Amino acid sequence: MKRKIYLDYAATTPVDPRVIRTMLPYFNKKFGNTMSLHSFGQEAKSALEENREEVAGLMGAKPNEIVFTGSATESNNLALKGVAFANRNKGNHIIISSIEHPCIMESAIWLETQGFEITRLPVDKYGFISLEDLKKAIKKETILVSIIHASNEIGTIEPIEEIGKICKGKGVYFHTDAAQTFGKIPIDVNKMNIDLLSASSHKMYGPKGAACLYVKEGVNIQPILHGGGQEMGLRSATVNVPAIVGMAQACKIAKREMKKEGQKLTKLRDRLIKGVLKKIPNSYLNGHPQKRLANNANFWFEFVEGESIVIQLDLLGIAASTGSACSSAKLEPSHILMAIGLKHEQAHGSLRLTLGRWTTEKEIGFVLKVLPKIIKKLREISPFKKL
Ligand SMILES: Cc1ncc(COP(=O)(O)O)c(C=O)c1O
Repeated sequence: MKRKIYLDYAATTPVDPRVIRTMLPYFNKKFGNTMSLHSFGQEAKSALEENREEVAGLMGAKPNEIVFTGSATESNNLALKGVAFANRNKGNHIIISSIEHPCIMESAIWLETQGFEITRLPVDKYGFISLEDLKKAIKKETILVSIIHASNEIGTIEPIEEIGKICKGKGVYFHTDAAQTFGKIPIDVNKMNIDLLSASSHKMYGPKGAACLYVKEGVNIQPILHGGGQEMGLRSATVNVPAIVGMAQACKIAKREMKKEGQKLTKLRDRLIKGVLKKIPNSYLNGHPQKRLANNANFWFEFVEGESIVIQLDLLGIAASTGSACSSAKLEPSHILMAIGLKHEQAHGSLRLTLGRWTTEKEIGFVLKVLPKIIKKLREISPFKKL
């Protein structure tokens, strides 16, 4: 039987069996609607509040500062649109980076159609924004700065604490998209001066369909969904208790295991990066060599197309990607790789390998054995320049 190796943990993670076990009773025994007055409803409501505490705890927030949503996409939409419209009387200017996830990029484009002005900060070759650029970009009309915590494609971790400090000093709200970092690296919203933070359960071994937006007490924000007034009026909809219970259990596990897991993944990642760069001529690392997510390795290879590599790897049972799952079906090169200065053809030659809880040394060894052969074979038939 062909072995299957999953190296696309940035796209989504399998649900940890410990998480599944915790969720199960909430499908058919404790299934109540949190808004119902009877005992079923009250049982669900208590579970919701207990689990809210757990999620809040992992980022140093208060439980009443956590709004559960259905996805990080929704959390990011709520953060940008909710803050933009609630603070329209103060100003219409929002700052983002040029390497945000499509849900921020597209929300920003839509906000422009509604009369908001968006500044997109450039990044350097590693993907870092410049703090000087940020300071200069903030003006009296600025109401919000939204910078991704760590890039889903190249893994670069932005200097969030410094960005938070600048925003606080200028009296501007600071939102960060932490979909790739929550549960993976320590986050303290108070220490980092974060006003709003998006996190997603399915990126951290929890189920799909649960996510949250941290909204610091006192932040002026309005809902984008209207209805029954659940989640402090910020997210109307029947609450997805089983998924939230799962997300909270994933947080509990992360709290205990994050440090050790990070060390293990860093070691595997560095072995992979070193091996690829050594064994494959004309290969390059995207992102910063150290200031990157412990599970992220992103390369570009001259004279090959990323999609062809992904297909060849898949034939051998290895799941990889060229970049973000949301944009990998598009033909345009990744906006993130273009933002770090790659040319079209270079960005098209990219490969993202993201490791996770169940990645083993043996799997990395296998990838290091087959990837050089795949690249060599593809280069031999490449319509681009031959080596
Ligand atoms: C950085 C980042 N933000 C947002 C999202 C969207 O998350 P979700 O799938 O929960 O909507 C993702 C997932 O790809 C991501 O990596």
